[in-house]
Amino acid sequence: MARKKITIVGAGNVGATAAHWAAEKEIGDVVLVDIVEGVPQGKALDLLETGPVEGFDTKLVGTNSYDETAGSDVAIITSGFPRQPGMSREDLLEKNKEIIQSVTTEIAKRSPNCIIIVVTNPLDTMVYLTKKVSGFPRNRVMGMAGILDTARLRTFVAMELNVSVEDTQAFILGGHGDDMVPIPRYCTVAGVPITQLIAKEKIDKIVERTRKAGGEIVSLLKKGSAFYSPSASAIQMAEAILKDKKRIVPCAAYLEGEYGLNDIYFGVPAKLGSNGVEEIIEVELTAEEKAAVQKSADGVKKSIAELKL
Ligand SMILES: NC(=O)c1ccc[n+]([C@@H]2O[C@H](COP(=O)([O-])OP(=O)(O)OC[C@H]3O[C@@H](n4cnc5c(N)ncnc54)[C@H](O)[C@@H]3O)[C@@H](O)[C@H]2O)c1
Repeated sequence: MARKKITIVGAGNVGATAAHWAAEKEIGDVVLVDIVEGVPQGKALDLLETGPVEGFDTKLVGTNSYDETAGSDVAIITSGFPRQPGMSREDLLEKNKEIIQSVTTEIAKRSPNCIIIVVTNPLDTMVYLTKKVSGFPRNRVMGMAGILDTARLRTFVAMELNVSVEDTQAFILGGHGDDMVPIPRYCTVAGVPITQLIAKEKIDKIVERTRKAGGEIVSLLKKGSAFYSPSASAIQMAEAILKDKKRIVPCAAYLEGEYGLNDIYFGVPAKLGSNGVEEIIEVELTAEEKAAVQKSADGVKKSIAELKL
């Protein structure tokens, strides 16, 4: 079987750590791209030289050019500025817009059949821009946010109940911002909804902490934002695609009527396989949940409008 090829744009915290996870999992050979000379080359070589120690055969190259990315199966875009304390994800829009436009053009030119996973913030807006610039169909452009947000929620539930994170499942809809919509009645521990296991006030606190979990890390790190869990989440999506796993994961997908929303990227449960987003799963919502979804969608729409496309 031919080896798969993964391009990772941005060799910073998220990009380089994604290369690390990808190498260890042997899901494909990795091309790491950055504008800073020497950094992608150095990090890729360092990871390549880790292979004999960890026992992986993944090939990794670092580059400042896109020629080596040609024919990629999956491209993960992490290039762009991260948040600093006091910043919202939206504050990054102007700076990251230009980066996403140029990176997407280069990727789409050299890998016209690839599947793109965007990580750069503000997430839903940047992935919308990537779809516009690439001209790719909706199944081949998606954003990473939901796996990360649900991982945070699952962590807090496991901490609260002193159970294994492996037995927790979580469900979050909406944009990747503080208005995201965790839905506790669809969050479970070994199949049991957490609404039966945790008191409402505690669930409310967990939900609030989840919404602000990105900011919690930013304020601890003081420089930059989370990268271990975001990069692992992006690689889980790439793995589901490259191995055609048909995993149901929350991700930012382009909606055409689903959840009553149109022409927007929004966090929803989706089936990921070799064709990218192969299906969007719609679930029943209460009136209150619908209102929260609408509020989150209004925020994303406002941000997309600021792109002035
Ligand atoms: N979706 C999410 O859930 C999520 C989670 C964490 C981080 N992020 C976002 O991911 C992005 C990257 O975060 P990070 O912590 O890795 O930042 P970082 O600063 O460590 O790395 C960003 C890298 O992008 C590179 N870069 C800038 N312009 C480029 C260009 N035109 N072409 C190629 N490379 C370019 C920089 O040189 C740098 O190495 C940020 O926008 C951050 O907000 C999103």
